[in-house]
Parts: sequence; structure tokens; C-alpha cells
Amino acid sequence: MKVNLKIYLVLIIVIVWSIQACVPDVDPIITKPLFYQPDGFPATSGQLNNNPVTYNGFRLGKKLFYDPILSLDSSVSCGSCHQQFAAFAHLDHKVSHGINDLEGNRNAPPLFNLAWHSNFFWDGGSNHIEVQPIGPITNPVEMNEDVARVIAKLKRSKFYPEMFKRAFGSDTITTQAMTRAMAQFMSSLISANSKYDQVKAGTATFTVDEQNGYMLFKSKCESCHREPLMTDLDYRNNGLDLHFTSDPGRARITLQPSDSGKFKVPSLRNVAVTFPYMHDGRINSLSKVIDHYRNGIVQSTTIDPILAGGNMSITDAEKQQLLLFLNTLTDPTFLNDERFSEK
Ligand code: HEC
Ligand code: HEC
Repeated sequence: MKVNLKIYLVLIIVIVWSIQACVPDVDPIITKPLFYQPDGFPATSGQLNNNPVTYNGFRLGKKLFYDPILSLDSSVSCGSCHQQFAAFAHLDHKVSHGINDLEGNRNAPPLFNLAWHSNFFWDGGSNHIEVQPIGPITNPVEMNEDVARVIAKLKRSKFYPEMFKRAFGSDTITTQAMTRAMAQFMSSLISANSKYDQVKAGTATFTVDEQNGYMLFKSKCESCHREPLMTDLDYRNNGLDLHFTSDPGRARITLQPSDSGKFKVPSLRNVAVTFPYMHDGRINSLSKVIDHYRNGIVQSTTIDPILAGGNMSITDAEKQQLLLFLNTLTDPTFLNDERFSEK
């Protein structure tokens, strides 16, 4: 009898231990903090102050980001249009393709360093990272789903209630908890280890051509594509069009005619892998982007004062140096970081 009891006890301990072992609280691939402040970066937007990144929040956010059940017919996830190898942009798609292959009218921007942004989308139409995911979920040409139905689907799931409980202490699934988890995942997408960053940190050096490209960048591009984020996060017109009827940009939100044709300055980090370029994906190579600044700038009523002087003078040799510099902004650590990938 005594022996039996001991065996039972050991069995119970083994069972409890193995159940816990199935759902580990730390992931072996997570060896560094999920959120950190890279050297030289400015202060964050502060939008995450009440929603600090935790391992379980990140894990839930990642699961949701890659889960097509957030779309009406379970065909499209956030990750369908935001692909890691393209720095979470939509590679080779001028404008995004959503549910039933419906086309939107804008190019999916890459996702990284979002904790430093206060406004989201090309026109800044969303002003909080925790509200932003509602946009694509409900957009008829993206995921075309209803938030209440998404919540109902998550509640019916075998694993989501437990994941929400681990992340937020309660298995009651709410819209806010869902978007907070996604905000935690997206804020963890930090890109700060390109060759450019290593040069800044003193652990690598530019070639002579890259260094010359960097000097050109500083004199011609940096006032808008500001270091170290490579964007000043402002809205500007870089001379693509004369009229803005098809997409008024920032004016869609502010309703100010003076904001017509202004779009959020995109970061140039990882720019070599995020083609096509511009809010509508109209330019398909970096070489052609530089040609735009060399001989394609269209003067209009809202052209940025920095470009009001007309085309930039950039020689062919300088163009090559600029391209070499832009390539140093690619961050392979980020593009291949297993913590962010679907599996
Ligand atoms: C059908 C393709 C598609 C899907 C699906 C999609 N997105 Fe996007 N995403 C876009 C496009 C296009 C934009 C730019 C929209 C605009 O500027 O009006 C964008 C913009 C964004 C931005 C703003 C980035 C910035 O720099 O301002 C974030 C953040 C984002 N998406 C996250 C998500 C999340 C989270 C999901 C899933 C809930 C998602 N996206 C699903 C195409 C998509
Ligand atoms: C007056 C501000 C300004 C200056 C100066 C400027 N840009 Fe831009 N750049 C922008 C804006 C705004 C956009 C987005 C325009 C749009 O999509 O409508 C942009 C877009 C880009 C893009 C596309 C990125 C993407 O993800 O789609 C690249 C590449 C680029 N610029 C490179 C450069 C280079 C290289 C220089 C210097 C030779 C430069 N820019 C100078 C404001 C500027």
C-alpha cells in the first residue's frame, strides 16, 4: 500500500511537470530583451508606456499577426502583406493585395522601429499603435472582417483563451487585449544592426565609396530621411505629381489643401529589400528613385521647400556611391531574426 502511494505521488509530479513543460514560459530562441532602446536612437513615442512588452504578450501578438482567422474568409493574415524577408513590407507588390486578391491603392510599408512613430499609415490616419490593427482588419480590400466576429472566433479557439490569460492575466478576450498584444509584437520589430549602425558603433568601417555616398546622403537626403531612424516622421511632398486627386495623402486626414500630396517620409532602413517604392509603389528600383530626385521632381503648390529649387545635381558616379551607402542600411540580423518569423 505504502509503495503504491509513493508511485502515485511520483506519477502525479511527473504529470504536472510534463504539462508545464509543454507550455514553457521562456522560449529558447529568445536570448535578448524583446524591447530595448538602441544606442543613439531618440526617445520612443511613449505609446507603449502603459503596455510594456512581455514575453507572453509578444508571443500572443505574433500568433495573431500570422493568423488568417483575423480575415473574413481566413485567407489573409497581417503577415501576408508584411513579409519578414522584405522587412515586413509586401515585396514586389505595387499596392497591397488583400482578401479575394482585391487591390488596395497603397503600397504596404515595412514594419520596424514603430515604437518611435506616433502616427501610422502613409497619411498618418491612425494615431495609436494599439488602435492601428483595427484598420486592416476592417478594411474591405484588406481583411474585410468585423472586430466582434474576430473576437468571437478567438473565444472559440482551443488555445487563444489560455494565451490571453498568460499575457494579460485574464482569459476574457477583448479587442483592447488583442490590439495590445499586436502592438507588443510590432514594437519588438527593432532594426538597428545594419552596417551603418556598426560603423556608428565603431565595429565596422565604410569603404571609400560608401563613405562618399554617406556624405552625399547627409547633404541631399538627410533633412527628410533623418538619422538615425532615416525618417523625420513628418509629412512631405517629394515632387511625384502635379495633382493629387487620386490620393491627397495627408490632406485626407487634416482636410487642409496645404497638405495635399504630402506623405509620411518613409524610413530608408532596409530600403534595398522593400521595393517597389513610394506610397503607390510606382518606382521599382532604387536606381530609378535616385533618377527621380535627379531629373523627375515635379513642382506643385505643396512641393517641399527643400525641393523647390528643382532637380538635384547628382552625377552618375555620385549616384553609384549613394546606392552603395543605401545598401549599408540593410540589417540581416533583423531580416533573419527567428523570434519574428512565423514558425
Ligand atoms: C492586404 C494587405 C495588408 C494586410 C492584410 C495588412 N496590411 Fe498593414 N498595411 C498595408 C498597407 C497597404 C498599408 C499602408 C496603408 C496606408 O498608408 O493607407 C499598411 C500599413 C500598416 C502599418 C503602418 C506602418 C507605418 O509605417 O505607418 C502598420 C503598423 C500595419 N500596416 C500593420 C498591420 C497589421 C497589424 C495587420 C493585421 C491586423 C496588417 N497590417 C494587415 C497592407 C496590409
Ligand atoms: C523634402 C524631403 C525629402 C528629401 C530631401 C528626400 N526625400 Fe526621399 N522621400 C520623401 C518622401 C515624402 C517620400 C515618400 C513619397 C511618397 O511616397 O509619396 C520619399 C521616398 C523615398 C524613397 C522610397 C522609400 C519607400 O520605402 O517607398 C526612397 C528610396 C527615397 N525617398 C530616397 C531618397 C534619397 C536617396 C534622397 C536624397 C537623394 C531623398 N530621398 C531625398 C522625402 C524626401
